Amino acid sequence: MARNWNPDSWKAHEARHLPHYEDAQALADAEATLGTYPPLVFAGEARALKDELAGVARGEGFLIQGGDCAESFAEFHPNNIRDTFRVLLQMAVVLTFAGKLPVVKVGRMAGQFAKPRSAPTETKDGLTLPSYLGDNVNGIEFNPESRRNDPQRMVRAYSQAAATLNLLRAFAGGGYANLRQVHQWTLDFMGRSPWAQKFAETADRIGEALDFMEACGIDPATVPQLKGTSFYTSHEALLLPYEQAMSRQDSLTGDWYDTSAHMVWIGDRTRFPGSAHIEFARGIGNPLGLKCGPSLEPDDLLTLLDTLNPAREPGRITLISRFGHDKVEAGLPRLIRAITREGHPVVWSCDPMHGNVVKSDSGFKTRPFDRILTEVKGFFAVHRAEGTHAGGIHIEMTGQDVTECTGGAIAITDEALGDRYHTHCDPRLNAAQSLELAFLLADMIRLEAGGRQADAA
Ligand code: PEP
Ligand code: CO
Repeated sequence: MARNWNPDSWKAHEARHLPHYEDAQALADAEATLGTYPPLVFAGEARALKDELAGVARGEGFLIQGGDCAESFAEFHPNNIRDTFRVLLQMAVVLTFAGKLPVVKVGRMAGQFAKPRSAPTETKDGLTLPSYLGDNVNGIEFNPESRRNDPQRMVRAYSQAAATLNLLRAFAGGGYANLRQVHQWTLDFMGRSPWAQKFAETADRIGEALDFMEACGIDPATVPQLKGTSFYTSHEALLLPYEQAMSRQDSLTGDWYDTSAHMVWIGDRTRFPGSAHIEFARGIGNPLGLKCGPSLEPDDLLTLLDTLNPAREPGRITLISRFGHDKVEAGLPRLIRAITREGHPVVWSCDPMHGNVVKSDSGFKTRPFDRILTEVKGFFAVHRAEGTHAGGIHIEMTGQDVTECTGGAIAITDEALGDRYHTHCDPRLNAAQSLELAFLLADMIRLEAGGRQADAA
C-alpha cells in the first residue's frame, strides 16, 4: 500500500483542470451520495486486468483501448454501446487472428465524461462563457445556465456508467461475444468498405477453425473462452472529486482501488511531477495509463514511474505515447531507452489521435486518417528498431457511421465533415475506419512477429 496516502491526499497538491464549484455544500452532498453507492467494478477484476497487461508487457499480448473522446448524456443509447463494443471486438478478432496473440480489450467507456480543455473560456458572437468540461461537470449547450458547474452531474454520470457497464458485461458474457457470431457482427454500412470483404474472409477462416475444433470435442459449450470474452472499462481520472468518492478499500487485500473503472489514466496535461492527479493515482491499486506527449522528458518519466510504480509491478503501468505523426520517430526512442535502461516493466501503447488534430478548411476539428496511420507505423518502426514490444493502441472511435476524421478507404472529405459530426469533443474514427486501422495493425504485428522469429533463428 502507498505510504502517506489517503483518498484525499491529492488536495494538498497542485491540481490543474479541476472545475470550481460555487456551492461547496452541493459538492459535498454529491460526493457523500457517491460514497454510499455500490462500486462499479470489483478490485479482483482490476487485478485480473493487471495480470493480462503484465502479459502484454512481456510481449505476449496486445492491448486495444478505445471509445469516445467524451461520453455524453445525449448519446446514451444501447445501440451506441453495442456498436462501439462490436467494433472493438471486431478489431480484436482481426488482431488475435493475425498476431496469434491474446488481445486485451479495454473500452474508453462507462465513465469517460471529464475533459481537460486548452482554454478555460469560449467566446461566440461576443459572449464569453466557461468552456465545456464534460457532461459530469457542465453542459455543452452555449448558455450561462448550461455552462455552470453542477456537482449533481456526477451522480447522473455514475448512473449512466453503471447502466453502460451492465450492458457491456451482458454482451461480454451473455453470448453476444461468442466467436460463432463473428459473421453477424459485420455492420450494414460497412458493406461498401473494401475491408468488410476482408473481415468476412477472416470470419470464414475462424468459422472453419471452430468447425475443426468442434469435431475434436472443443466447442463453446465446453470451453468458456469461446463463448464469452473479458472486456474492461477505463477513463481519464481527471475529475478527482468523483474518483475519490468512488474509491473503496478492498476487503480482501486492504488496498485502495478506484472502483469507477478497471483502469484509469492520467492525461498529458496533468501528469507533471507533483500533480494532484499523480498523487491520487499512486495510492490506488488499479492498472494505470500515463499519456506521454512531446513535452515529457525521460528523467521526468522515470520520476513519475518511481512514484506510481515503486515496486515495478508488471501490468501496473501502460505508457500511452501521443506524439503526432511527424514527432514520434524523433521523440519516442528517448523514452523507450530510459525505460529499458531502468528495467521498468511497462506496456507501450500508441495513441495516434491526440497529436494529430488539425482544423479543416470547413472549420471542423478533424484528424486526417493518413496521419493516424503514419503515427502508428512510426510507433511500430521505433519499437522494432529498439527491440521492444509495440504493445497496444489507444483510439477515439465509435461504432457509428460518423464523419469526423477525414480519409480512409471510404474517403471522408473535408466538405463531408458536417454530414454526421456528432462528437462532444475530439473527432473519432468511425466503424469502417476503425476496422481499416485493425487490418493495418495486423500487418504491423505480423511484421513484428516475423522479426522475432528471424532474431531467434
Ligand atoms: C484524451 O485522451 O481524451 C486526452 C485529452 O488526451 P491527452 O491527455 O493525451 O491530451
Ligand atoms: Co480526446
